[in-house]
Amino acid sequence: MVELTLPKNSKIVVGKSWPKPASEEDLKTFKIYRYDPDKSGNPRLDTYFVDMGDCGPMVLDALIKIKNETDPTLTFRRSCREGICGSCSMNIDGVNTLACLKGLNEIKNEVRIYPLPHLPVIKDLIPDLSNFYNQHASIMPWLETKTDLPNQEWRQSIEDRKKLDGLYECVMCASCSTSCPSYWWNGDKYLGPAALLNAYRWILDSRDNATKERLDDLEDPFKLYRCHTIMNCTDTCPKGLNPAKAIAEIKKLMVQRQA
Ligand code: SF4
Ligand code: FES
Repeated sequence: MVELTLPKNSKIVVGKSWPKPASEEDLKTFKIYRYDPDKSGNPRLDTYFVDMGDCGPMVLDALIKIKNETDPTLTFRRSCREGICGSCSMNIDGVNTLACLKGLNEIKNEVRIYPLPHLPVIKDLIPDLSNFYNQHASIMPWLETKTDLPNQEWRQSIEDRKKLDGLYECVMCASCSTSCPSYWWNGDKYLGPAALLNAYRWILDSRDNATKERLDDLEDPFKLYRCHTIMNCTDTCPKGLNPAKAIAEIKKLMVQRQA
């Protein structure tokens, strides 16, 4: 069960329900979290009906259809529509995922959509990811080199390049971090699975010369060691990545360098 961070003294109430169209046969019901901080009142769950005979196959298609044809005030992030930009992450049917990769046929009954859990909500399905991005910036997500600038490029062997598979594909959607209880309770100090997976990606890069600094920075009771291997991150990652394994590998490196 997902816990949402609600504005102070508020609860989610039943919101508006658009009239059920009489003519269409293949209707699917959507219950969608709505919240506008500029208006007083509790967050609410609005109900929409979408004709599946006239809708694309993904949850994002339905959201775009609702916004275009029923309710232009519905607010959500999206860009690429193919699992690359990471911006359409939200909680769908109880699971954090990307709306553009979640098939409507995977959801049997009504579709319940909430923003990613345990983050302040800016509006409707848009959470505030400032802390998440600041944490990502803190792990130096770039190549740190001390060698002279090469004429063309910093080269890498095929084997070394392969080590980055399963890491470089992260689209920073935050589905993993916001599914993690450790991150829910200590998100201000624990870096969370996404930032740590990306930290490991740069630690592992054969061209990088800042491994010691990177590990020194993570040697901290909260930044790294608040991971208790709960594994929600790996279960939920819509790109099929394994942040829990990346975190375990960093912990192993910490032990090895002390031996
Ligand atoms: S590891 Fe997966 S769930 Fe986490 S931010 Fe990257 S793509 Fe999203
Ligand atoms: S719209 Fe880009 S990942 Fe979904």
